[in-house]
Amino acid sequence: MTTLTDLAGWLANEPASDDVKAVVAVVAGACAEISKVVASGAILGNLGAAGQVNVQDEEQKKLDIITNDILRDALNGCPLVAGLASEELEVIETTGAVGGFLVTFDPLDGSSNIDVNVSVGTIFSILPAPAGVAPSEADFLLPGRRQVAAGYAVYGPQTMLVLTLSQGVVAFTLDADGAWLLTHGQVAISADTAEFAINMSNQRHWAEPVRGYIDGCLQGKAGPRGKNFNMRWVASMVADVHRILMRGGIFLYPWDAREPDKPGKLRLLYEANPMSLIVERAGGRSTDGVNPILDIQPTKLHQRVPVVLGSANEVALVAEMAAR
Ligand code: AHG
Ligand code: MN
Ligand code: MN
Repeated sequence: MTTLTDLAGWLANEPASDDVKAVVAVVAGACAEISKVVASGAILGNLGAAGQVNVQDEEQKKLDIITNDILRDALNGCPLVAGLASEELEVIETTGAVGGFLVTFDPLDGSSNIDVNVSVGTIFSILPAPAGVAPSEADFLLPGRRQVAAGYAVYGPQTMLVLTLSQGVVAFTLDADGAWLLTHGQVAISADTAEFAINMSNQRHWAEPVRGYIDGCLQGKAGPRGKNFNMRWVASMVADVHRILMRGGIFLYPWDAREPDKPGKLRLLYEANPMSLIVERAGGRSTDGVNPILDIQPTKLHQRVPVVLGSANEVALVAEMAAR
């Protein structure tokens, strides 16, 4: 049997600073803990609704709150983390530490899937904290390019952790003893694909460029693209993005006309930025339709953005159609 490198062994050779690596290790530990509560499901009585809504007016599941608390406790216990922001918390939280890092996270992505035992995940982003002062909300509003690390855990048939720190993307698999073992040394997204992921039930609400792009895919070999496309939609961004990292594809959660004051469904700081950094580092592309997501200057904590990411040539085509 081959011996696989564990997370600590891999981090030892990663060029990022020891401090960044220490924060990544704390988040990885929290994700291993989350994997256990997710896997226990109904046994621990953790499925179902919590009976309250979050700041985005979305119904919270019990596990949204449990997983949020696991990450909060872990980060509060880390002297290198000055503040945190979560999809499930209305305002930022400071830890009392000064300097170091800020962490933003979606503690349980795809939580509408949890009660039906479909893959869910945790997404996180690590940003530099201001020096010498306790962080304020404004300090979290950094473009995605400023991230010093990003990652996600996917709780699927296997629990996996996908990371980018200073360069490249690697993936670990959680073993039965709770260790993260390096199973995917360098992840690269193929430039071309014939697989798209979008919630087709929103088709009538989309803007013209996205309608045109998807219509071209649906026409298959006889249409303008000259090839047949396959469609997948897990409705957990982590699972859809993970599939794209493993075998290519394009993921779209575009602007739609349902709620004009919401420019998209996904959140810039907890979902779009970390996933965009991972996708770009794996050789893919990411855009809001006009600009690279990583160049967006955030204006508010819970900001939403349209998201198109994945195989580079396919994302480029959507951006080109949007610019016409
Ligand atoms: P969350 O569970 O954190 O609120 O995120 C759900 C997101 C994302 O994971 C997924 O891609 C999308 O919502 C699914 O949306 P639809 O319900 O429109 O399919
Ligand atoms: Mn989410
Ligand atoms: Mn969530």
